[in-house]
Amino acid sequence: MKKTVLVSGGAGFIGSHVAVELIQAGYEVVVADNFSNCDMTCYEGVKKITGRNDIPLVKMDFCDAEATEKLFSDYRIDAVIHFAAYKAVGESVLKPLKYYSNNIQSFLNVLETACNHGGCQVLFSSSATVYGEPEKLPVTEESPRQSATSPYGNTKQICEDMLRDTVHATEGLVKGIALRYFNPIGAHPSALIGELPRGVPNNLVPFITQTAIGKRECLSIFGNDYPTPDGTCQRDYIDIVDLAKAHVCAVTRMLEGKMKQPYEIFNIGTGRPVSVLELVKAFEKVNNLKLNYKFAPRRAGDVTAIWADPTHANEEMGWKAERTIEQTLASAWAWEKHIAGK
Ligand code: UD1
Repeated sequence: MKKTVLVSGGAGFIGSHVAVELIQAGYEVVVADNFSNCDMTCYEGVKKITGRNDIPLVKMDFCDAEATEKLFSDYRIDAVIHFAAYKAVGESVLKPLKYYSNNIQSFLNVLETACNHGGCQVLFSSSATVYGEPEKLPVTEESPRQSATSPYGNTKQICEDMLRDTVHATEGLVKGIALRYFNPIGAHPSALIGELPRGVPNNLVPFITQTAIGKRECLSIFGNDYPTPDGTCQRDYIDIVDLAKAHVCAVTRMLEGKMKQPYEIFNIGTGRPVSVLELVKAFEKVNNLKLNYKFAPRRAGDVTAIWADPTHANEEMGWKAERTIEQTLASAWAWEKHIAGK
């Protein structure tokens, strides 16, 4: 019998790509989302890509304990991938309690309900932000976590700890994996699903594509005086489809009993540092266009450079990032044109 994976926040950017890969790998998927930061576009896209019209969609909020309980009673859930959370770093500084109450409460309800239902495998969507400004590069899973620089980052650390402690307290009834994503970018090659930022994008690639299409006048590159080869910050940009596939590997690892510890952590990145300027140049080249950009002051809270050592995920999960930065940037542009109707 097929295993069922609940994808909380499954109508969003990462969740929808993960839903596609899970279905294509033979899993049943239940999508649950409160649509606070997305519309039906990606859910409809998932149905088109997979040719499946019957993917259960539950409109609900994981902060609602009763609704969470009902969901687990209505479906026989083998594993949960928890994405449902707020993610705007700047907003979290201005409205910390909004972030603490939503991101913590929703995960608490997922864990509590998983325990009440006799256990479950839980995959938590974490972030490289937990490493702060690393002392040594690239970062491995053993690199120390640093004090979070934003309430958003803090919620990622707290949720990792909630999962770790629950796994230990339940003696393996609940098993957990935290995936620490570096910078997920790009869109599905079909251009049917992708990132749909509301308002002015905070993240680099949506800002680039919106500038290229004419929605924004000019990209500001935040800082060109960093101690890096070209003075701009370096990140580990990971293709969204590669990232989604890491979730399939992690879920399979959990469901097939292949975990070495009941709580595990994996870095999900390419291992390849790319500067902001290099990314802009690669975008221009692969899409054959010129981007309007200027250098601007540094953005508060940005780290100089961070990239992953993905060896642990490569060797243990058999997962590896495969797409080139050019393929990824072409997919981001195709998606922007798709949503603009061009
Ligand atoms: C941020 C979050 C990270 C989160 C990720 C989601 C922190 C410190 N960072 O990462 O936790 O998981 O978003 O994707 O919590 N840039 C510009 N101009 C722009 C926008 C960005 O130059 O208009 C630069 C930034 O200065 C940075 C790089 O592009 O050097 C990447 O920025 P961004 O896409 O926002 O991601 P991060 O800040 O790395």
